[in-house]
Amino acid sequence: MITVKTTLELRAAVAQARAEGKQIGFVPTMGNLHAGHVALVEKAAQRADFVVASIFVNPLQFGPSEDLSSYPRTLAADQEKLLNAGCHLLFNPDVDEMYPDGMASQTRVSVQGVSEGLCGASRPGHFDGVATVVTKLFNLVQPDLAVFGQKDFQQLAVIRTLVHDLNMPIQIIGESTIRADDGLALSSRNGYLDAAQRAVAPALYCSLQQVARALDAGERDFSKLIETAHQQQLAAGLRPDYLEIREPNSLRPVTVNDRQLVILAAAFLGSTRLIDNLTLDLDATA
Ligand code: PAF
Repeated sequence: MITVKTTLELRAAVAQARAEGKQIGFVPTMGNLHAGHVALVEKAAQRADFVVASIFVNPLQFGPSEDLSSYPRTLAADQEKLLNAGCHLLFNPDVDEMYPDGMASQTRVSVQGVSEGLCGASRPGHFDGVATVVTKLFNLVQPDLAVFGQKDFQQLAVIRTLVHDLNMPIQIIGESTIRADDGLALSSRNGYLDAAQRAVAPALYCSLQQVARALDAGERDFSKLIETAHQQQLAAGLRPDYLEIREPNSLRPVTVNDRQLVILAAAFLGSTRLIDNLTLDLDATA
């Protein structure tokens, strides 16, 4: 695996792989890789001949009071994980390489609809930052396919919409969330939790499972389900941000007739914000 820092080197390495007739798979990340990221790279390696990963902590997607400066940077450990997972080329640019003219004048990509509400409401501008950097990375790498985690369910919907709306010939693959034994979805931000918070954190997924069980049992009073889940989270020591039940493709609020559902939640533990989701096919469980 080689690591490059400039767009010139990236384009040259990808062009060579392309000239050799290789299919290009791409996994964009912000680093501090865990087993969830490794699964994305392994999936790309199964589906493509040449795997490109990026590590770039994108300032454009962080709010002013968010964790940009403290976001964990662990390049050497990440390189080893990428190599073992089958990555061929790592793109690890500096901020100046991605935004040479600064960020204020940077053209922004704004995905309508699916980026509104949920995390879009709690983190204004976040999905514009994600859509902008992913568009730039897609234009640089020009992959045949790209793999994203389903843990960031709304982000995945934003990327799918982006690729569709802007006619990008890239197959987007969503990969299942990897969980710790106690159910907590793996996330780089779990590293911020102290031991007591880490013990509480699985309560987020428990509350999603509780809602799923109630929906499965026929409950359709969505407001009541959400209120109960919030109470459950509060009792466990979480501070709920949102919990919503949506239709998985459009992310519109569900109706009582919907059979495909996704329950999405975000909650705080101290200053750490955790997100998770659970999809539910009521026809499969009927
Ligand atoms: O999911 C992430 O790690 C980031 O949002 C992404 C897709 C790499 C864009 O910066």
